[in-house]
Amino acid sequence: MRKILLLNGPNLNMLGTREKAIYGQDTLQQIEHEVQAFGSSLGYQIDCFQSNHEGELIDQIHQAQDMYCGIVFNPAAYTHTSIALHDAIKAIHIPVLEVHLSNVHTREAFRQISYTAPACEGQIVGLGKQGYLLGVQALHNILREG
Ligand code: DQA
Repeated sequence: MRKILLLNGPNLNMLGTREKAIYGQDTLQQIEHEVQAFGSSLGYQIDCFQSNHEGELIDQIHQAQDMYCGIVFNPAAYTHTSIALHDAIKAIHIPVLEVHLSNVHTREAFRQISYTAPACEGQIVGLGKQGYLLGVQALHNILREG
């Protein structure tokens, strides 16, 4: 079965209790299960990894190249700071889709800059957990076309 990596960055392990008005009620585990069910309906195994550490996310991106056909990635706050994650995404040859639960473009000015998006196939923002499902769907479409 073809595999997609669902990768989540810092503080997303706190979903369900963290700023619910912005990020919703669901825990990361609930979201991961929904994405796995959706992925499986399209014929993909979805493996999930979350880390609060930039280096661990970089390692996962490097390793993903040999194991996955694409990555759905919410880099969380590292979106707005990390040239290293930008470079890691550029270094691999599988498509990466950036997802944000909230609409970062309507929030603080510092969230309106993404270092990672220019390295990605595209960016999905502001649609809550649906964004992750759309990310999987978009990867599926990109892989079918390619
Ligand atoms: C986020 C948006 C980021 O600005 C923030 O740092 C997060 C979550 C989102 O999913 O909306 O941790 O990536």
